Parts: sequence; C-alpha cells; structure tokens
Amino acid sequence: MKYSHVFLLAVAITALAGCNDDDEPVIDQPSTVIPGDPGGDGSPVNNPGDGGGDGSGDGQPPGDGEPDPEPRVDIDGLPLPDTEASPDFETYVAGQPGYYTSLSSTEFNNIRFTSVATQDNTPNDNELSNPVAKLGRILFYDVRLSANNTVSCASCHQQEHGFTDPVQLSTGFEGGHTGRHSMGLTNSRYYDPGRFFWDERAATLEEQALMPIQDPVEMGMNLFDLETKLGQTSFYGQLFTEAFGDEAITSQRIAFAMSQFMRAMVSYESRFDQAVQAELNNDPTPVLTEQELRGLDLFDSLNCIDCHTTTAFVLDRNHNNGSVSNNDPDQGVGDVVGRPELAGFFKTGSLRNIAVGAPYFHDGHLPDLMSVIEFYNSGINNHANLSPDLRDRTGRAVRMGLSQADKEALVAFLETLTDDSFLSNPIFSDPFPPVEAGTGAESDAP
Ligand code: HEC
Ligand code: HEC
Repeated sequence: MKYSHVFLLAVAITALAGCNDDDEPVIDQPSTVIPGDPGGDGSPVNNPGDGGGDGSGDGQPPGDGEPDPEPRVDIDGLPLPDTEASPDFETYVAGQPGYYTSLSSTEFNNIRFTSVATQDNTPNDNELSNPVAKLGRILFYDVRLSANNTVSCASCHQQEHGFTDPVQLSTGFEGGHTGRHSMGLTNSRYYDPGRFFWDERAATLEEQALMPIQDPVEMGMNLFDLETKLGQTSFYGQLFTEAFGDEAITSQRIAFAMSQFMRAMVSYESRFDQAVQAELNNDPTPVLTEQELRGLDLFDSLNCIDCHTTTAFVLDRNHNNGSVSNNDPDQGVGDVVGRPELAGFFKTGSLRNIAVGAPYFHDGHLPDLMSVIEFYNSGINNHANLSPDLRDRTGRAVRMGLSQADKEALVAFLETLTDDSFLSNPIFSDPFPPVEAGTGAESDAP
C-alpha cells in the first residue's frame, strides 16, 4: 500500500520536477550501516534512489552509473529520508581520546590543558542512544520543521562549515534574516554553563532545540502543528517507536532527539589531535609545523587560552572580549538577564573547526580569521566590562602590537583545529535525497 502511494507520488513529482540526480551513483544496499568509525572517507552512503530501502531491486544493475529514476518522496509529497541507515553515534562518541575526557589534565608543547570531563552538559534523562540520535539526525535535516517546508536546521547549520552558516546573517523560511550570525555546533556538548545562544537565553540544549522551530524568522512553525505534520508521514511513527518505545510524537521527544544528535557532534581528529597523540606516545615525528607551534605559544601567552579552554577549545563561560562598544544596541547576555555588569558579555562555540566557520563573532562582521586576530591585536573596544585578560596595565583595552609573522602563526594554529573527518563524517550527513527543484527545499542555503 505504502509503496504504491509512494510510487504514484513519485511519478507525479518526477514529471514536475525532473529531479533525477545525474551525478549520484546508485548504491544498492538496503540496510546501510553507517560506521561510527572516524576517518570516514566521505563517500556517499545515502541511497538516493532506493525508494525507502525496499530492496526489491528495480531491474537496474547497481553501479552502472545510471541514476535510479525513483525519487524519494513520502505520502505527504515531501522528501523521504533514508531510514534504514543506522549511524553508530555511540561508538563515535566513545572514541574520544583520554586527553579529551579523562579527569587528568594533559601537557602538550609545555602547555597544560584541562579536559572536558567535568563540563559535559548532557542531562541524566537524555543520555546518548543510537535510535534517538538517529531520529534527531533526520529531524535536523527535515524541511517539515519549517512552516512552508523550505528550511531545515541544516539550512543554517551546515556540516562542512562546522554546522554554522557561511553567510553573515542566515535566511529564514520566508526570506527574512536572522539578527545574528549562526553558531557552529562542534563540541557544544562541552559548554559547562549549559546555556545556549550568543546571549545564553536558552537554559539548556533541550530548551534551545524548539526555539528556532517557533522563531518567526527562522522556521515559523507552531509545535502542535508540527506534531500533527510529522504524524502524517509514513516513517516518523516507526522512528519514534524505535527511539522512545511508542509512536507518540511530542515536542519534548523532538527536542530530546535533536539534542542527542547535536551532542554527538564532538570533534577529536584534527591535526592538533594527531600532534597531542604523538607527543603522548613519545613519537618524535613532528606533526605541527614550527609556525603552527609558534601560534599555539602565542595563543597561550596572549591569554586566549584563559577563555577558550581545554583540549576542546570551548569557552569556560560567557565573557566580555570587547567585541562591542558600550553603546552597541546588542549587549548580549546583559540584555537577557537585565544586569548592567553583564552588558557586552557573549558566549561563543568551540574553536574547533573555526577555520571553516567564517564569518566571525555574534554579528558575523569579521570575514576571516586574520580579521579576528587583527581585532584582538588592535581593535578591542574599551567596554566598561572588558575582561581583565584583555586590558593593559593602565586598564585600557590591550594593543598587542603583533608582527605580521605572529598574526599568521596564530591563524595557522587555529587552522590545525579543523577536523576533516568530522566535517565529512556520514553519521552527521544529510539523510534526505538531494533536491534539485520543485519543493524549494534548502534553496535558501547559499
Ligand atoms: C534561519 C537560520 C537558522 C535555522 C533554520 C536554525 N538555526 Fe540554529 N542558529 C541560528 C542563529 C542565527 C543562531 C544564533 C542566534 C542567537 O544566538 O541569537 C543559532 C543558534 C543555534 C544554537 C546555539 C549554539 C550554542 O552553542 O549556543 C543551536 C544549538 C542551534 N542553533 C540549533 C538549531 C536547531 C536544532 C535548529 C532546527 C530546529 C536550528 N538551529 C535552526 C540560525 C538558524
Ligand atoms: C576574555 C575572554 C577571551 C579572550 C582572552 C579571548 N577570547 Fe576569543 N572570544 C571570546 C568571546 C566572548 C567571543 C565571542 C565574541 C562575540 O561574538 O561577540 C570570542 C570569539 C573568538 C573567535 C570567533 C568565534 C566565532 O565563533 O565567531 C575567535 C576565532 C577567537 N575568539 C579567538 C581568540 C584568540 C586567538 C584569542 C587570543 C588572542 C582570544 N580569542 C582571546 C572570549 C575571549
């Protein structure tokens, strides 16, 4: 029954949209298991033409280079995800090295790094489990979460950009723009205060996850309608049952599932990690260049490390780094809590994958890493609440006087935090087939 529906719709949509994908090879594996194994090679694991994994074959030999003509559309006429794949998030997260998660601190390049062991914001009632995070991944990429089925979380949080958006302000479901730059999601699990957004207005990730859905610019959906809408698909009932034991679709479960998916986004396979591992193993082969190590030394001596802490490079709490002046209309945390002594304080995400996360700062006004370094070097605002870490002896905003070589070294060091395995790991990738035209899905992502 289900498949005949799908088939009829599929024919209609094909006629309308002509959405064959000429580049995508057919991989005929009805039960794709996505390895949690890091170092995934980024090869496509979705089954773009698999029709929901019925495995019945379509008369075309696999691997002949011809695209499968059957588009993946569900009974509601919207994209049908690959629900057969079973990404192993638990194994991936368990693969974090000891210097990341064990209680002791780690010395690398004569600098002491604390670990994130005590700053995991996972609540006891929402520990990671594969079926829940699998559901979370599908929700995260589903355009059904927006009122007009055009925008998913991933429209503004793109894997190859460390789950931020490469534009200064993101475009919402009706073409409006967000008030701030999108935030990268790498390692957001390790933000100790557990609050979310640049101004920390969400108390937990579970609370945060429902906010963009209802945001009038971002997705414009109400939660009651969303529960109904998801119930009108052929597949969510089954996914909620696998995840939570019965098919009730509630916004709390939606929030829990997406939070688990986002908390699985830990990054530990950058060149920086290889270098730490090598030093711990007494392997003398240099991993980082002299320039990169010089950048790390500066990151330490210029106090960057006092705020961007641990081997996960997360903020220890919100700070005032002089990113705004006293008169700026956006005073971040101070506006939310209504306390003048917190005016100008902001949260930011982990510096891991920062090199692919431009533009920078809450307003996205700094286009590249060199401009961030130039900001710290010569542009810190004399905000009344500026952190002592960034003041000189007279109490003014510090002017660092870095040489060009120093600035380049800092940028080079920050680039060592890019984790290509994470950025292409299929467990974090889009489970929906590529959309070319017709539904307008994800067309807002530039
Ligand atoms: C239209 C673009 C857009 C969409 C769609 C969107 N986001 Fe965001 N996201 C943003 C922006 C912009 C911010 C920063 C907003 C702020 O702090 O004021 C943000 C911030 C966040 C943060 C905070 C990260 C941190 O470390 O504090 C999380 C988590 C997040 N989004 C998850 C999601 C999820 C889950 C969805 C889907 C339900 C989603 N986003 C949909 C643009 C978007
Ligand atoms: C007092 C704490 C503090 C110190 C010291 C500090 N930072 Fe930051 N950093 C922050 C805060 C807070 C933000 C977010 C500011 C904003 O968005 O308005 C930030 C943002 C950044 C960003 C951009 C993050 C993003 O997602 O846009 C980079 C890169 C960065 N800092 C690097 C550095 C470097 C390099 C140093 C040392 C030269 C340094 N920081 C020193 C607190 C600090």
